[in-house]
Order: sequence, then structure tokens, then C-alpha cells
Amino acid sequence: MVLGQTLAQIKMKAVIILSAGHGKRMKSVLSKVLHKVAGKPMLQWVLDAVKILNADQVITVTSPELESHEILKDTDVVVQAVPLGTGDALKLGVQKLKSNIDKVFLLCADTPLLDPKDIKKLEHSKADLTVIGMQLNDLSKSYGRIECNSECHPVAIRETKHNEKVKNISLGNAGVYAFRVEMLKELLPHLKINTESGEIYATDLVELAITKSYKTELVIADEENFLGVNTLVELSQAEKIMQHRIKTRHMLNGVQFMLPETSYVNYDAEIGAGTIIEQGVHIGENVHIAKNAKILGFSYLSNCTIENAASIGPFAHLRGNVVVEEHASIGNFVEVKGSTISKNAKAKHLSYIGDATVGEGANIGAGTITCNYNGFEKFKTHIGKNVMIGANSTLVAPVMISDGAYIAAGSVITEDVGPNNLAISRTQQQEKNAWALSFRAKYSKKLS
Ligand code: UD1
Ligand code: MG
Repeated sequence: MVLGQTLAQIKMKAVIILSAGHGKRMKSVLSKVLHKVAGKPMLQWVLDAVKILNADQVITVTSPELESHEILKDTDVVVQAVPLGTGDALKLGVQKLKSNIDKVFLLCADTPLLDPKDIKKLEHSKADLTVIGMQLNDLSKSYGRIECNSECHPVAIRETKHNEKVKNISLGNAGVYAFRVEMLKELLPHLKINTESGEIYATDLVELAITKSYKTELVIADEENFLGVNTLVELSQAEKIMQHRIKTRHMLNGVQFMLPETSYVNYDAEIGAGTIIEQGVHIGENVHIAKNAKILGFSYLSNCTIENAASIGPFAHLRGNVVVEEHASIGNFVEVKGSTISKNAKAKHLSYIGDATVGEGANIGAGTITCNYNGFEKFKTHIGKNVMIGANSTLVAPVMISDGAYIAAGSVITEDVGPNNLAISRTQQQEKNAWALSFRAKYSKKLS
């Protein structure tokens, strides 16, 4: 408590995030706000962005299906059983406000691209109601339109679905507002149901505020930051913009993308300077790539760590907790799952390495398969240092190939192999003298 202030004098702020309704326009089984952009749910992007406000309370108004969802664990959750509109959702949120909350910031959970700096701008406004507006380049967009008076103060927000003509107004409503709580509590009971949609609109608060002589203010922000996602088409537009942002950040940190627009990078990817990423690469969740690595074209990575100067691909698939240590190399059409590939080891062609450890300097020949699954359980394969596995070998786990051992090409290995031994497990080669001559002679006689 600030010295000399009574409890009642302390001003506190709250954030209310609207995330109820299923998002019918998405035509998806998943709740709209859980759809991901760059691997992070839209609602989480908004929850992360509002951290800049350091609010005393964060309230989420949500649908019954999301009530106990983990994503809401750090918020005060209010359920809106029937989605009766943004105004109705706001009313429910306001009922949950702690006493002493003086200012409320209202945001929608379907704007994943928002920039925390824009939200911060709202904080400085002294008005009773402040709204973020954006100059629209494309007037066909369905955003509500903000009407302003001659001094650029908002006087109303009109929804385009009820009046096509307002599309001529180029000032779009971003759906982000700051309210003085006293005003909000006075105005909310006066919000009316829209007769066409049967919903109550939070946007009608602007006109109500003007009729009661409250002060309104406009904050202008970039349209791109407030792209509202209501359909899967808009979701793909948001993804495209987010991908551009993510790869730009990595490139400015010294990561080279050969054709950045062809690769996908999850929001949480860590990539060291000097790493080169070729075209068509997918960097999914939980990927850590150190410096000077090479990720060659069309490789698909998730849940893996790639250490300095390792090389992956082209056409490699790494998943499920994989570590590729320094200078190791995974080549084309190699799938690695739940395995560690130690320093300088190589698996360059056409292999499956699952639940295995591959020792330093080992070489895995083309077509090697670890058989890790018997239909019920998974088993481990241990390959020691400097082991040479001949091409087209099958290693039936659990099995241990000790340091320095050789496995002859085409072997099926079911028993452990000792250090520096050679294991061969294939039928002995036979050779029949001049067999081809008599074979051909037989056929030329038959066909003549
Ligand atoms: C809303 C605004 C529009 C603005 C746009 C910005 C209204 C009436 N319109 O339109 O002016 O330009 O956002 O993107 O507010 N929600 C609930 N309960 C409900 C309805 C919606 O919690 O009953 C939540 C949704 O989960 C969503 C947000 O509120 O996150 C906005 O609702 P949505 O239906 O997407 O409104 P828009 O049509 O985009
Ligand atoms: Mg929307």
C-alpha cells in the first residue's frame, strides 16, 4: 500500500477477455479460441499480450466447454452459458470484478496478432471510454465501424452486418477498449438487445456513453495487429502474418532461411545464429537448434534438440524427444524417434531409428531399421561408439551393439554383440558354376 492511502483509494485495473461462444463461422469441432497460430492457441496469445498491463485481475468469460480448461488456470473464469453477445459477456465479467478495480480493459480472444505496445497505449488515456481503431485498407472487411465527431472522439460503433452503408467508414473497431468502471456499471444495465441478432453488443456502450456526456477517446493502431479471426480463411491469414514475424525475428538474429515463406516455424523454436534452414522445412513444437546447424530441405522436426553444426535432411523426420549432438548427421529419408545420436555419428540414408542411443562416431548404414515395438511394448537399442552397421540391417530390440563392433550388411540382429566383434546373420552365399549358360540354352531351344 502506498503510504498515506486508504484501501478504498487504491486504484486497481482488471482485464476481461471474451472467449465464449463456439465460433460458428469457423465450422470446426474445436472451440474457435483454441485454434492455434504458430502452435499457440489464439486465446493464449491474448493472455500473453495483456501481461504488459500487469493487471490486478484477469477475467475470462468463456463457454461451458472451456470452463475447466488448463489454459484458463491463471484467470478468474466466468461461464457464459448461452452466447448472447459481447455486451452480455462483458456484463458477466463485470460481476466478477474485485472491489477497488477502477479501470477495465476489454479484449476479444480472437485477435492473436495484437501487439502489447498497442494495449499499453490504452493505459495512458484519461477518457471514461477509450477504443482502439484501425484505418482499414479494404472496406469490404466486416469489422464494426467507429463514428467520430469533428474532434475525432468516438460517438458510436456500428456493426456492418446490420447496415452495409457503414462500410464506407474506413475506421474499423479493433475490439479492444478501456473503461472507467464507475461508468461501465452505470451504462451496462441500459444496453439493449439488438432486434435483428438477438444479441447485446458491447460496442453500443460508446453511443450510450456519449448520451450521458462521458468522455471518449480513440487510439489508432495498425490493422494487421488486430486481425479478427472468425473463419478458417482468417486463421490462415493470421498464420501467414505470424510466420512472417517469427522468421523475420530469427533472420535478424543471424539464422539464414533460404526461402522463408516456404518453411513453418513454431512460436517456441530456438535457433542459433549461423544455422541455415533450406526450403520447405517444418519446425514444430519444442525444437531447439544450436549454432551453425544445417536443416536441409523438406525436413520435419518436432520435440528435438539439434546441437552445434549438426546436419539434418533433406527429407528427414525427427520427433518425440530426439537429441542430435554436435557434428552428427541425419540424412535423407531417415526417421528418428525418441533417440540420441551422439557426436559425429551418421545415419545418412533410408533408416528408422527409434528408442535408441547411437554412440559417438557410429555409422548407420542405408536401410537400417531398429525394431523397437512388439505390438505391446517398446524396447531400446544401444549402439556403441564407432560401431559400423552394414546396410539393410535389422536390429531387433532390446539389443546392445558394443563399442567398435561391425554388423555385416543385411543381418538380422537379435542378440547382443561384443566389443569390436563382427556379427553376421544371413544365409551363406552359394555360387553355381556357369548356371546362366545352361539356363539360357534351355530357353532358346524352347522358344525356337
Ligand atoms: C466484434 C465487434 C466488432 C469488431 C470485432 C473486432 C461486437 C458486437 N462486434 O465483432 O465491432 O470490429 O469484434 O474483431 O462486439 N464472445 C463472447 N460471447 C458472446 C459473443 C462473443 O464471449 O456472446 C467473444 C468471442 O469468443 C470473441 C469475441 O467475443 O472472442 C468477439 O466476438 P465475435 O463474434 O468474434 O465478434 P465479431 O463479429 O468479430
Ligand atoms: Mg471476431
